[in-house]
Amino acid sequence: MVGRRTAFALGGLVVAACAVGADSGEAPAFAAADAEALPAALLPPAAHVVLTALDVPPGQDAARAYAALARATPASGGVQAGVALGASWFAKAGLEAARPAALIPMPRFTGDVPDDALTHGDLLLHVGAATAEAARLASGSWLRSAPSARVRWQRRGFRPGNQVSGGRVLARNLFGFVEGHGNPSFRAAGTGRSPAGADAEPGPGEVVRVAAGPGVPAWAVGGSHQVVRVIRFATRLWDAEPVPVQERVIGRRRDGTWLDGTPAAGRPAFADDPDGTATPLDAHVRRANPGTPGTPAPRMLRRGYSYHEGPQDQGMLFVAYQGDLELGFAGVQRRLAGQPLDRYTLTVGGGYFFLPDVSRGLPAELTG
Ligand code: HEM
Repeated sequence: MVGRRTAFALGGLVVAACAVGADSGEAPAFAAADAEALPAALLPPAAHVVLTALDVPPGQDAARAYAALARATPASGGVQAGVALGASWFAKAGLEAARPAALIPMPRFTGDVPDDALTHGDLLLHVGAATAEAARLASGSWLRSAPSARVRWQRRGFRPGNQVSGGRVLARNLFGFVEGHGNPSFRAAGTGRSPAGADAEPGPGEVVRVAAGPGVPAWAVGGSHQVVRVIRFATRLWDAEPVPVQERVIGRRRDGTWLDGTPAAGRPAFADDPDGTATPLDAHVRRANPGTPGTPAPRMLRRGYSYHEGPQDQGMLFVAYQGDLELGFAGVQRRLAGQPLDRYTLTVGGGYFFLPDVSRGLPAELTG
């Protein structure tokens, strides 16, 4: 476990200390200067998280509940925390005019079977720490700062093998596959330059931040749309499949190497494989990012966690940050409909939230 102590209050996340579990034992490859220039949502995620969706009951002051949570500070080091807003919060706070137009309740996508007890919320508290116990304790004390807010749902997550490699944060999911290779790459630590080959690609900062534009109130510029999906895995069904079958469902090998042998950090030319001989056309990664003309690369930063509440309830807390929901999560999710991976997964909850940039303090527009 490697820890790097800093004292940031950036981008919606209050970060008392940034720690990332690195199996390799290497320090995270993020320069401090990069971290300071970026929203803290971009920092390497802690190995453990507690996500808590909260509702503000009728008669309680929603603006005050948000301010109390957003101003809370961790009692101990090694904790990352962020407070994001759901569409319903704006109505309850009487601040509907301040809601970013794109922030709506998460729609139901093809195949979703949402459980109301695991979906939506006025607020989302995200508390990360190096151990499950530290995340649980910090989350409990954070919640006590806003006693009027009621827990709507809560999930604990963890990132097996959490580490930074080549400017990307990687972890292995409960299907045994490494995730994170396809994320936008951070600049190499200390060089101020993108890694070779990544110069033309947008960096994570550009991808996650909301830009000024129609329907975007001034306070929201620089913040991020945070999407959460609670995705249950049919692990037994998946584990019964031979690994080569699993790899064709995903479109990469378990370690991230592409099916045509291209190294994980590279990208194969799908145009040279028009029939999907090497990488099936309906493989998860090919549906997500087909590389065809007119289909731009997804603009999102995925920060998923695994969860395990028992043999019948385990899977992924998919978390993604993006400046534009259509170019990020929503557009990709629609392309994924009907993919073979859907046979092994079921989305049962989550929500759309907005993580304000609080690097210059809480926006006055949100505190009523
Ligand atoms: C259902 C559970 C899911 C599993 C098991 C899963 C697994 C994976 C794996 C193993 C990769 C390859 C490594 C990587 O690039 O991270 C990947 C890539 C990706 N996934 Fe997922 N994923 C899931 C859900 C989603 C969802 C809900 C979305 C968004 C709607 C999504 C979007 C993407 C994108 C954009 C890529 C990168 C594609 C590329 O540019 O190569 N995934 N996923």
